[in-house]
Amino acid sequence: MTAVEERRETVPNPYLEGPFAPIDTEITVDCEVIGDLPADLAGVFVRNGSNPKYPPPGRYHWFDGDGMLHALHFENGHAVYRNRYVTTEALALEQDAGEAIWSGVNERPNFSRPGGPFKDTANTDLVFHRGRLLALWWLGGPCYEIDVPSLKTVGRYDFGGTLASLTAHPKLDPVTNELIVFDYDVLPPYLTYGVVGADGTLVHQTEVDLPGPRLLHDLAITERHTILMDFPLMWDPELLAQGRTRVTFRPDLPARFGVIGRHAAGTEVKWFDAESCYMYHTINAWESGDEIVLVGCRIANPLADGDRERVPHIDVLRLEPFLHEWRFNLVTGTVRERPLDDVMTEFPRMDNRLLGRPSQHAYSPHIAPAPELLFDGFVKYDTTTGDSETHLYGDARYGGETVFAPRVGASAADDDGYVLTFVTDATTGDSEVIVVDAQRPADAPVCRVRIPQRVPIGYHSWWIAADELAPSTRT
Ligand SMILES: [Fe+2]
Repeated sequence: MTAVEERRETVPNPYLEGPFAPIDTEITVDCEVIGDLPADLAGVFVRNGSNPKYPPPGRYHWFDGDGMLHALHFENGHAVYRNRYVTTEALALEQDAGEAIWSGVNERPNFSRPGGPFKDTANTDLVFHRGRLLALWWLGGPCYEIDVPSLKTVGRYDFGGTLASLTAHPKLDPVTNELIVFDYDVLPPYLTYGVVGADGTLVHQTEVDLPGPRLLHDLAITERHTILMDFPLMWDPELLAQGRTRVTFRPDLPARFGVIGRHAAGTEVKWFDAESCYMYHTINAWESGDEIVLVGCRIANPLADGDRERVPHIDVLRLEPFLHEWRFNLVTGTVRERPLDDVMTEFPRMDNRLLGRPSQHAYSPHIAPAPELLFDGFVKYDTTTGDSETHLYGDARYGGETVFAPRVGASAADDDGYVLTFVTDATTGDSEVIVVDAQRPADAPVCRVRIPQRVPIGYHSWWIAADELAPSTRT
């Protein structure tokens, strides 16, 4: 018996079952459309997610699975669906072995693994920069270039040899075409911040001092600044010193927001202390007079226990996020913050054309009252007031992140377009992409595109407008 076989104890895990269960087929299909496919919807909707290729050895965590991309290409009145694994170097090694080599974050890290104790799955996020689709990983590492629309993995991408490692959620400035990036580590420097220029190479990089290693997930940008975050969620330091990983949260420590000029040195960060919290995802930030406004999904305590039937958990992580606004005054150094809603939402998206600039709307998946993280609809927010309208998917139907696709020829309004998401029926396993008019979010979808296989619940997505794509052959 191999070491992997000895360690393989497939513990029942809800994130391996039902609408989360991985699939092992990769297909390309011209899909049936129910309703009228809008003529002014042209481009590719692509979504990343966790889809373990081999039975995971040891205790599985939803964040461990191999990356799989699902995409719908809207072109010439057709909607073509494709799904492909992100063929990372680690997955290729496992394919050669015919079984999983890496265990996940719930197991003791094994530093003898090639490339590190955890497998870089590139399963988390996507960004389309300078004609390249990049798949990114939540723990940080090399990103992978993906061919569009074929979804074939081209290979590791390192920005012309200038940037070898970055984490999920870089921010693309829609005006300058700069990509604002960060990375974090358990060893100093705990946080590295940088800017990839419009030429595709790293033009700025600086280390940012933190009190210790942190589990970070996102940042936000304005036209001139970046907002970095130091939330008190971390690997337990004593266990980490023993080579073990267990996440811990320190509610006695503040949530710190670090405002830095986009191209400034890490020593110039201006820190603002706010009420202790965690936040996986920001929505947007912008400058308003002396203030920087930040809107996102605040979680008071990401490890609090209890109420597991109504508030979803991913292992020990408790997801009870609410729309929240912070205002950081650059002159006085003060913070004003306020909750904007009391409805649980996460995986928010907005009109990327306004990222870093004043925006009004967000499209935020609505968390179902369930033990697992399931979205039973989405909320269209006015993030300046908290006003909202809700679209529900129906009984036992669960969606993913809701991407916003501006209409071809759209005005500057950040709801002049469509909201798209994959929806899966947990009872039948049927999946579809729904296309909703963003200005009439409570209405029935404009059309539904039937996907001829079940699409597991996943993570982040991207909309690539047709005019950003190279001419395609639809193969
Ligand atoms: Fe994320």
